[in-house]
Amino acid sequence: MNIKTISSAEAAAFINDGDVVGCSGFTAAGCPKAVTQALAQRAEAEHAHGRTFKIGLFAGASTGDTIDGALTRAHAIAFRSPYQSSKEIRNAINERDIHYFDLHLSELPRLLRQGFLPKPKFTIIEACDVTNDGKITLTSAVGIAPTIAQLADHIIVERNAYHPKALSGIHDIYECKNPPFSTEIPIYRVSDRIGLPYIQVDPKKIIGIVETNLPNEIGDFVPADALTDKIGNNVANFLSSEMKKGRFPASFLPVQSGVGNIANAVLKAMGSHPDIPDFEVYTEVIQDSVIGLMEQGRVKFASGCSLTLSRSALEKVYADVEHYKNKIILRPQEISNSSEIARRLGLISVNTALEADIFGNVNSTHVMGTTMMNGIGGSADFCRNSCLSIFTAPSTAKGGKISAIVPAVTHTDHSEHSVKVIVTEHGVADLRGLSPIQRAQSIIENCAHPDYKKLLHDYLNLDVKGHTPHHLEQCFAFHRTFCRCGDMRETEW
Ligand code: COA
Repeated sequence: MNIKTISSAEAAAFINDGDVVGCSGFTAAGCPKAVTQALAQRAEAEHAHGRTFKIGLFAGASTGDTIDGALTRAHAIAFRSPYQSSKEIRNAINERDIHYFDLHLSELPRLLRQGFLPKPKFTIIEACDVTNDGKITLTSAVGIAPTIAQLADHIIVERNAYHPKALSGIHDIYECKNPPFSTEIPIYRVSDRIGLPYIQVDPKKIIGIVETNLPNEIGDFVPADALTDKIGNNVANFLSSEMKKGRFPASFLPVQSGVGNIANAVLKAMGSHPDIPDFEVYTEVIQDSVIGLMEQGRVKFASGCSLTLSRSALEKVYADVEHYKNKIILRPQEISNSSEIARRLGLISVNTALEADIFGNVNSTHVMGTTMMNGIGGSADFCRNSCLSIFTAPSTAKGGKISAIVPAVTHTDHSEHSVKVIVTEHGVADLRGLSPIQRAQSIIENCAHPDYKKLLHDYLNLDVKGHTPHHLEQCFAFHRTFCRCGDMRETEW
């Protein structure tokens, strides 16, 4: 059977108000682009005729502007999960125009398979190749594509010629079974392959192929600055001192690093540290720094869910794709973020906090406890299960008016029981084996900005009894002061 070629508008015309749609991709890597833009236009046309048109939307994580941006601007999203990171959709979520459920990324495929979440009727997949017998080869990310391809009634493929067919072989497609039939995921080393290089679907489900030639919508990598360099160096120096204490094997442990500029700076600092041996990466998002370190021979192998690379870095990989296929594996997020694998491989995980409190709890998602930033992403998949879980943050935000070290976080994503080390540009607080009061002393002394140290010590001296001495009326005084006058430094006890 020959799968027919259709236009993006023809593809979008199949999707109706109230439908649930799943998209391939993870970050802006591997996302469809043409059909979702056509869908946004369709929604706008429906709205112009006074008809409702909103879909439920799942993707692996955040997406490019041609999904979250275009559909938000068209008021075409009823609900969204599990992660997002652009201003427009964030605003719509905080205005409660879009219902958003913020999920651990590793959990989404299972929750969909088990029917705890609405089943996608349509799945739109970006592919570099598709065969008439239903073998779909993905592009620069895997995400939830294997799961939603199986679950959906109908599949639309965007065959994007920008991505070379030679990518075939970089993906490792493996689908877990639901309990009680689930078994161990047989990955024992970062470079183990356990699945197929393509997604096999029933070709009868493929409505059509939309031909495109569009680059990923990933902005250029922002080079490290003095502050992120300091944080990166603090992490690298701490890991080197752990090495010297014999707490890591001579071969080191695989590294997971979060998203953004601090993550890039941490990897860069690790790569240039003379006492840190060449290492492997088992992570969610493979960023530019990993490719740079591979070129220098410092990163030996990288397993991830997406190649979230600047255009120049991705083109470098594509120009030598046969070489990189031996050094990189792209996996579904259920596997890249699996708690079982994180625990087994003994990962060192480094993620970013918006704020941390003096007892070691971390908020990665909610500004002032109320406004959604991006979502928890994979941070907790790794934090709870890694061998060593590190959280980094600049000690202040908004020009010093916000302290990232606060008496109590206004929303807890990662608890004191899982967070092992906190690092800012000022230093490192190693919380392992410390009681709450010892943790507080260490975090204030090593991590807080000098402008906030006295205020934080004074909070601890408010003469509250108990194991974790929180003053229930004052614990959010930093945040209350910021909301009142725009500067936490004005706090008075
Ligand atoms: N209170 C209020 N605003 C704060 C803040 C705080 N405590 N800390 C930071 N901000 C603001 C910054 O000023 C900045 O605002 P701007 O966009 O207006 O400039 C914004 O939040 C982002 O801060 P930035 O320092 O640029 O952070 P980042 O890009 O490194 O992102 C997180 C930090 C926490 C939002 C991001 O890492 C995240 O979404 N994490 C959760 C998911 C995750 O960890 N995924 C990886 C797992 S593999």
